[in-house]
Amino acid sequence: MLALATGRRRRGGNLPGVSVHVEVVRDATDEVTAALRRLLPQLSTSAEPPDKQALHRIVGSEATTLLAARAEGEIVGLLALAMFPIPTGLRAWIEDVIVDEAARGKGIGEALTREALSLAQAAGARTVDLTSRPSRAAAGRLYERVGFATRSTRIYRYNFDDAES
Ligand SMILES: CC(C)(COP(=O)(O)OP(=O)(O)OC[C@H]1O[C@@H](n2cnc3c(N)ncnc32)[C@H](O)[C@@H]1OP(=O)(O)O)[C@@H](O)C(=O)NCCC(=O)NCCS
Repeated sequence: MLALATGRRRRGGNLPGVSVHVEVVRDATDEVTAALRRLLPQLSTSAEPPDKQALHRIVGSEATTLLAARAEGEIVGLLALAMFPIPTGLRAWIEDVIVDEAARGKGIGEALTREALSLAQAAGARTVDLTSRPSRAAAGRLYERVGFATRSTRIYRYNFDDAES
């Protein structure tokens, strides 16, 4: 678990430091289900927040590590780290990074990302990947700040809904 006090001050701002704890979600609790219901719409308007049963599958999956950030006891951010072995090595992907609108700009996204990097490195991953739309400006700055670099590749997606119509 990572615990840190983020005391960095924003340019021209004067936010007090906030104590953030990042922990691995191990159980499909009502608290986490409610946090997903609150936070997921802030990332995606189309994804249906997982119910308790779906959350159970997520936290029970060997490939997925769900991280939760707490500030003053409340879950204010989530990140999913997916790791799976393939012939070229252990792949690690960061997905679904969300910080509650009311808690942004305090280093919580950075704390979640750094903890995911440290878990991936400890597990033996040589690289960590993620994708982020160019329109997500704050996310782009966050990833570059912690050391991610863009790489040139083609991102493909096969959409079953499009294929059926
Ligand atoms: C992207 C996202 C996760 C960032 O979360 P966050 O907790 O606000 O991230 P951080 O606080 O670490 O960094 C954001 C800003 O706060 C600043 N900051 C960090 N710690 C700070 C502190 N203690 N005091 C003041 N400002 C601080 C950072 O410098 C950064 O500034 P910048 O945006 O001008 O670069 C959040 O905006 C979000 O959930 N967005 C919607 C969903 C989304 O786009 N997810 C990413 C999908 S790829």
